[in-house]
Amino acid sequence: MIRSRVIGTGAYVPPRILSNHDLEKMVKTSDEWIATRTGIKERHIADEESATDIAVKAAKKAVESASLSADEIDLIIVATVTSDMVFPSTACFVQSRLGIKKNIPAFDISAACSGFLYGLDIADKYIKNGAAKKVLVAGVDVFSRIIDWNDRNTCVLFGDGAGAVVLSAERGNRGLLSSHLHSNGDHWRLLYTPSNIYSSPFKTHSRVHSHKHDEPYLKMEGNKVFKLAVQAMGETCQEALEHNDLKPADVTFLIPHQANIRIINATAEKTGISAEKVYINVDRYGNTSAGSIPIALDELAHSGRLKSGDILLMAAFGGGLTWASAVVRW
Ligand code: UT7
Repeated sequence: MIRSRVIGTGAYVPPRILSNHDLEKMVKTSDEWIATRTGIKERHIADEESATDIAVKAAKKAVESASLSADEIDLIIVATVTSDMVFPSTACFVQSRLGIKKNIPAFDISAACSGFLYGLDIADKYIKNGAAKKVLVAGVDVFSRIIDWNDRNTCVLFGDGAGAVVLSAERGNRGLLSSHLHSNGDHWRLLYTPSNIYSSPFKTHSRVHSHKHDEPYLKMEGNKVFKLAVQAMGETCQEALEHNDLKPADVTFLIPHQANIRIINATAEKTGISAEKVYINVDRYGNTSAGSIPIALDELAHSGRLKSGDILLMAAFGGGLTWASAVVRW
């Protein structure tokens, strides 16, 4: 059977660190509140760099670690909701900046924090039906550009970063075993960022959104999102295990979306996965949205802690609402 095996990983976060103590000087908050409610101690913020710049750095590392030349890639998928431009896609910029001269397909997908797992799922379908053999999947977001830095409810939670993998079509048992995608658009108001495209310059009286909603910043009903995230991440981990006839004890590492340590711990507990098997880096990066899971996967891959045959369970939750899980045999 043809599977999508991860043959390379890469990640990049911008160098500037914004600590909880820095935030204490910007909004009415405290290191103690942020650390105990979220697990976050610091996050990285892009000064000069854009989503494309960050994604390209992660992508180059992934291609290098796969020991490929960029021209061997035959599909690029970038998950992001903070692309440099409305169009072209970040994926097209990545193709150009990697120097790929073949006219391969390249496109972005929008699934917020679940975006990387959505990208893996799509890439796997290309690989399984023979349409691609080597696929670059990247997740990147620069939420520092869509955050209201006066809003303590949201500005302490997010950071910028990117991660990427190269998938290769291979026969055998290693690779992506399954992926499970979900969404519920009815709940979109719990987590969203408006844009001015919504408003027609010709219609001034038929606006569905109130003025308040038109500010171009991320809005979130944190408490409601928290509860739905715990429920959905637990359920999708369960379905991923059942689909593959796996028990919690079979999982080598849980790699959850890094939004909040309390969501991560609750997901692990609901799924029956012991604490030492849960990969956590939310303390260093905060929530990097689509970058979150591939950054964690890259760190784990380069830590020397993974061996062939290990079972990785990944789960994410984000705006849409969207949520997803995936199981990889390393
Ligand atoms: O990537 C997926 C999307 N995002 C998430 O998964 C995030 C989900 N939500 C969360 O992680 C949590 O709900 C938050 C971390 C956002 C908030 O934690 P919480 O325990 O749900 O707190 P809360 O929203 O219920 O707020 C508790 C209190 C409030 O004060 P009052 O009303 O009780 O007086 C807030 O005003 O904490 C206050 N608060 C803060 N205090 C100090 C909110 N933000 C801050 C802050 N510093 N930064």
